[in-house]
Amino acid sequence: MSENIRESRSTGKLAQRLARPELLSLEPYQSARRIGGQGDIWINANESPFNNAALSGVKLNGINRYPECQPPELISAYSDYSGVAKECIIAGRGADEAIELLIRTFCTPGKDSIACFGPTYGMYAISAKTFNVGVNALSLTGDYQLPQDIAARIGNTKLVFICNPNNPTGTVIDKASIERVITQLPDTLVVVDEAYIEFCPDYSVADLIDKYDNLVVLRTLSKAFALAGARCGFMLASPSICEMVMRVIAPYPVPLPVSLLATSALSEQGINTMTEQVTSLKACGARLSNALQGYGAKVLPANGNFVLAQFDDISAIQEILLSNGIVARAYGDPRLATCIRFSFSNTDETDFLIKLLAPVTA
Ligand SMILES: Cc1ncc(COP(=O)(O)O)c(C=O)c1O
Repeated sequence: MSENIRESRSTGKLAQRLARPELLSLEPYQSARRIGGQGDIWINANESPFNNAALSGVKLNGINRYPECQPPELISAYSDYSGVAKECIIAGRGADEAIELLIRTFCTPGKDSIACFGPTYGMYAISAKTFNVGVNALSLTGDYQLPQDIAARIGNTKLVFICNPNNPTGTVIDKASIERVITQLPDTLVVVDEAYIEFCPDYSVADLIDKYDNLVVLRTLSKAFALAGARCGFMLASPSICEMVMRVIAPYPVPLPVSLLATSALSEQGINTMTEQVTSLKACGARLSNALQGYGAKVLPANGNFVLAQFDDISAIQEILLSNGIVARAYGDPRLATCIRFSFSNTDETDFLIKLLAPVTA
């Protein structure tokens, strides 16, 4: 090894010198797995507590071959489930990949920007920054709705991300308000992230895809379908948007085991299982929200599989969670400094959590 290489390795300077300059100050997304944590009850990533893999009966014939870029059975199953035409669906490695693909397809680095409404899911801004695309970080209103004068505020932004239900607040924006934005911004892509829509399906705008060329809807199997580990999500949009994104997508974005698992999750039996689990999670979530209120927290209406709770004394609740092996999600965002997000879980874990909160209120 030459002296130069030895020197670069020991200081890490080579990567710093070669990297795109905008990455030097970029703080990567603090995913639940990156943050880590210690405990027995994991309610920090809005995952499902259920493991349905045993139901799938997946057999890996053909694993020696590359998979189809867009596995036809998977696209067909998602079309049947969502009511969206097959030519309007792209499958990929989670909704996160769809966010990145949209930015790479439609935004010119160093020139264009995206807009989003905070506090919201962090990956819109982080994905944009990794491609040197600007971020117009707007705020939701005090009651977590879209601002009125949105057209004036977004300027010539290429993509506007609306998270509905919104992570981490759990609040929703009604369909009419989203449709208003779509019509107000005919030259902008309005991307509605419906990662949690199975918990409040009436709010979906997927049925408007036929009507508006500038609407994109993001979906995932990571939440209600309990397949976060498989990495499978969907972009729903007009055929012309899909065709453009397909120019950018990786050659094999959906591994064969993933498409088999996902297709099975979208079978009639899979959808029934998902629906039952959503009902059970919502019931547990309602009990948890009540218990948090009993403890003195302010909770927001929970339309996803999680509840955001605000505490007068955040360190007291953090101590209770930590000492009892419960891993929930806290935030660096100053707007959320006294908040913790709790993902809904199964009956046993919910009961355990409620018991912990109860003695304090007695
Ligand atoms: C609003 C929102 N969108 C997208 C994602 C990412 O979904 P996926 O696992 O499909 O990449 C998440 C994950 O937490 C999310 O909360």
